[in-house]
Amino acid sequence: MTKKLKIGVQISGQGSNLQALIDACQRPDFPAEIVLVISNVAGAGGLARAERAGIAIRTFPHQDYPTRQAFEAALDAAHNEAGVELICNAGFMRILSPWLVQRWQGRMINIHPSLLPAFPGLHTHQRVLDAGVRFTGCTVHFVETGVDEGAIIVQAAVPVLAGDDATILAARVLGYEHQAYPLAVRLLASGAVQYQAGKAVWVKKRPTPTTGLLNPC
Ligand code: GRF
Repeated sequence: MTKKLKIGVQISGQGSNLQALIDACQRPDFPAEIVLVISNVAGAGGLARAERAGIAIRTFPHQDYPTRQAFEAALDAAHNEAGVELICNAGFMRILSPWLVQRWQGRMINIHPSLLPAFPGLHTHQRVLDAGVRFTGCTVHFVETGVDEGAIIVQAAVPVLAGDDATILAARVLGYEHQAYPLAVRLLASGAVQYQAGKAVWVKKRPTPTTGLLNPC
């Protein structure tokens, strides 16, 4: 079998996207493996998911470090020690400094629950509802120094429905996140998509949708 890309996943919470990546990586034909899961929150639900899957975990409570630089240096060292080739942020609730982003540029990705560049930042679903847009979604993108900025690898469009509240909408979007994140990792690990000069470039063509959607239809 060809060599699998070694990924490190950074989480802060329940880790349902981590679980989607764990499940994908358990398929024999998936071109990546998780070698390390890092959390900045002790006891984060995702850590138990990693342990159940037999994946190494490390916890770095950010408040225990004298500076942001010291915290981030610990993350960086842990990934390097584990031989990580791609960092996947999955609900990792820390803003990362430019030095760390630059060190991992093109080798660090994130998932955000909106159709970026619309609705970056926190409280995404409520802002989507307040704006009255008919579609939202999720985006897997390379990490750059601006929050939720960076070249887009995969997006899923998800309809906003009458009667949605932020909780209902978040759950609908999350279901698509669990498809989008493994797909993005597969595209990168297989070499189908590459980071080139700040862009996500298609190297091998993949099927793409041919139709748009109306909402309401
Ligand atoms: C997801 O909605 C992700 O897009 C956002 O935080 C949430 C994390 O969920 N950044 P989980 O911990 O993966 O379940």
